[in-house]
Amino acid sequence: MSKLAITGGEPLRKTPFTQWPLADNKETAAIEDVLASSKWGGQPFPGKYAVAFAQGFGELHTAKYAQCVNTGTVAIQAALIAIGIQPGDEVIAPAYTWEGTVGPVLLLNAVPVFVDVDPETYCMDAKLIERAITPKTKAILPVHLGMRFADMDEILRIASKHGLKVIEDCAHAHGGKWKGKGAGSMGDLGAFSFQSSKLITSGEGGAVITNNLEYMELVQSYINAGRASVTDQFHHRIVGFNYRLGEFQAAVLCAQLERLPQQQKIREENMAHFEDRLKNTPAIGLLKPDPRITRVAPYGYVLKYFSDQGKDIRRAAFVAALQLEGIPCDGLFYEPVYKSSLFPVKAADFPALSWGREKALDLRNMYSCPEAEKAAYEEAVWFPHQLFLGNKKDVDAIADAIEKVLENIEQLRGLDHKAIRQQQLSRADRES
Ligand SMILES: Cc1ncc(COP(=O)(O)O)c(C=O)c1O
Repeated sequence: MSKLAITGGEPLRKTPFTQWPLADNKETAAIEDVLASSKWGGQPFPGKYAVAFAQGFGELHTAKYAQCVNTGTVAIQAALIAIGIQPGDEVIAPAYTWEGTVGPVLLLNAVPVFVDVDPETYCMDAKLIERAITPKTKAILPVHLGMRFADMDEILRIASKHGLKVIEDCAHAHGGKWKGKGAGSMGDLGAFSFQSSKLITSGEGGAVITNNLEYMELVQSYINAGRASVTDQFHHRIVGFNYRLGEFQAAVLCAQLERLPQQQKIREENMAHFEDRLKNTPAIGLLKPDPRITRVAPYGYVLKYFSDQGKDIRRAAFVAALQLEGIPCDGLFYEPVYKSSLFPVKAADFPALSWGREKALDLRNMYSCPEAEKAAYEEAVWFPHQLFLGNKKDVDAIADAIEKVLENIEQLRGLDHKAIRQQQLSRADRES
């Protein structure tokens, strides 16, 4: 028996893991090059880094076209515009995701419709989509969450059967592949984020990819203040905004993109070793592998903690104990969006929620998605991807810490500790 760090013992891991974001002289040289060039503006105004990045990023994801934008949220918004989402249309989205997946739906005065997630993957449960379809449904917005893909085979089949569009939220899936096809290239459009925690980052940023030139032209006009797109074959003229990404960020992204394959390989090897270490650990469950995922893109390593096998010690205490052992991780990483404090939807602010109804839709109280709630409040444990960018010793430290906490879990019974109290709060409500 050893004393857990949370009760005053020695932390198992005393040195930091790989820090994120990572940069080296490639980023520095590219930024200096932009600085000297006097071409600082954003794509689609031609800048050599923006052009090179869009081309490389599209190719990586087996898509013909890619357009940088200033955030991942805007990437989703622009994709919704491209497919012609109108006020009052319904868009089906998973309940367990970041609020930014559905914020753009509301912003366009359309209506998000939540479906529960599959407990094997924590991604949208394709079996539940058809019952959420109504005459107003226009699109499905799956999220490839954490380290898995939503079942794109089923989603595309359902979309084609019902004449719906598909936008893939790929904020977690840079470089991922499903049956050889790149994340974001299977639906009508794919939306990526380059916010600082992501697998490729420029601090903030995003991209839209598609194989459809008309969609690309609409995206380009929308994010470039309504100007004609570079190709302008479809001659759309729409009201647009300045949602461009600057050339400094594109330069950083070029360096990040070049480094991704090497990082992907390291993460894959380290995660395989992690799973080997944990596969028979009591109270720990691994997400089901899916052979259709031909390249995993793990934004985070996500596993399950079963408190009933952990002597009924709640996840918040388990996670806080791991944190104090020196392992960065999180339990309440996402909430079901409809319960999140970052989703204080008022019907008065979004008129479509009332249209054609005696009573406005109450998005905060009309849903109950048991699997999303179980993942959010009881089971899921998220480890940031950079923990797996080091060596085997780093991975062993995570597995050793999990074993240490489980072997000494009695020490957590009835414990009151600030880290546990923080873990009980949603991320938005915690002290930073
Ligand atoms: C699943 C998901 N969707 C959308 C977004 C929105 O991206 P951004 O923060 O770049 O606007 C994020 C990230 O933050 C995300 O994790």
